[in-house]
Amino acid sequence: MATESPATRRVQVAEHPRLLKLKEMFNSKFGSIPKFYVRAPGRVNIIGEHIDYCGYSVLPMAVEQDVLIAVEPVKTYTLQLANTNPLYPDFSTSANNIQIDKTKPLWHNYFLCGVKGIQEHFGLSNLTGMNCLVDGNIPPSSGLSSSSALVCCAGLVTLTVLGRNLSKVELAEICAKSERYIGTEGGGMDQSISFLAEEGTAKLIEFSPLRATDVKLPSGAVFVIANSCVEMNKAATSHFNIRVMECRLAAKLLAKYKSLQWDKVLRLEEVQAKLGISLEEMLLVTEDALHPEPYNPEEICRCLGISLEELRTQILSPNTQEVLIFKLYQRAKHVYSEAARVLQFKKICEEAPEDMVQLLGELMNQSHMSCRDMYECSCPELDQLVDICRKFGAQGSRLTGAGWGGCTVSIVPADKLPSFLANVHKAYYQRSDGSLAPEKQSLFATKPGASERYEDNT
Ligand code: GLA
Repeated sequence: MATESPATRRVQVAEHPRLLKLKEMFNSKFGSIPKFYVRAPGRVNIIGEHIDYCGYSVLPMAVEQDVLIAVEPVKTYTLQLANTNPLYPDFSTSANNIQIDKTKPLWHNYFLCGVKGIQEHFGLSNLTGMNCLVDGNIPPSSGLSSSSALVCCAGLVTLTVLGRNLSKVELAEICAKSERYIGTEGGGMDQSISFLAEEGTAKLIEFSPLRATDVKLPSGAVFVIANSCVEMNKAATSHFNIRVMECRLAAKLLAKYKSLQWDKVLRLEEVQAKLGISLEEMLLVTEDALHPEPYNPEEICRCLGISLEELRTQILSPNTQEVLIFKLYQRAKHVYSEAARVLQFKKICEEAPEDMVQLLGELMNQSHMSCRDMYECSCPELDQLVDICRKFGAQGSRLTGAGWGGCTVSIVPADKLPSFLANVHKAYYQRSDGSLAPEKQSLFATKPGASERYEDNT
């Protein structure tokens, strides 16, 4: 599995309405026929939030919504991008001089991240050009990884144009790294599940080394995604990177407290591994070593014996250098407890006790509470939506993805699904103030999907 490459399916495009429509639009845009198509799915994270970049395992599944790209390699060195959604303007650049503008998270920059990742991996300075038409149906800025799906899809497009081969694991690692060109310090969950997902199963994604294991979800329950309609673009603000830095600083302070070589430590998981103790014990160490009152940069420098200049330039990311308050205790408590919940969730899925749906639901509820109170990555609308979902039959409900907006995921007993959907729709989306844009409203049960390439057999 670690060496497997993404599948290529020969299909009759004429028999697939979405591919056919894309082929026709491509033809009217570029005056030619696409050579092949690539798809990469978005994902919903069932449990394990904000812990991938701390080195801990997460439990996502791919959703059916995806990014689909029609591609034609061309002999010029020009990369021409178009999108079926008129909100995303055309873009063109020289394929030999890819520049990613971190100051504005514009759609084409995510595509360029994928291209650049592959280009750098093979040490290529000259890339052939291509015409690409992108079609995405993952709601943007909603915590379902529309941007990573675009990076992954563009990475696979570039690989295919070059006629090279890589395993899914290699592709996931390259795309996780290259998405950071946009300026966010994400972990590898989104790109990993986009490549490693398989139909019909969720996956436990473990890091260093990256691997994915099937997790069989309960057959008597359905996972339902609901969009709070609050948009959160993690590249447009510094919330996300502040959390990554708080975890990094907490790891360093914990390592120093335990007399480990703290300067090389970047992740909370490394501290646990070096101490060789359980997650529960790490929670106790956190309570001893850190205090709940927020830290200011001066105190952190005193604890580590470094200067403010060193803190800013050697530890913090460019967009967090001016931050004045770091909540290290709360962030570390969230990470270690959430990492333990992921393992408990997987164990319950394996053992399948009779009250499994209820037990899984409880873990999801605890995860939401921890995200809300300790990690502070929820928002009033997400909290309200989670309450509504629980009230109408969800055994558990939580925010999913980075948070501060976007979607919730709920575990709902299958027999309650129709009434659940109707009631949540009424209670959250049909609000009397009409404040929610209809195009953003989405409430749907998910089925796990997977990434693929298609060649036209017509
Ligand atoms: C974003 C990041 C992921 C992960 C989640 C939070 O989606 O890209 O790597 O950190 O947020 O769990």
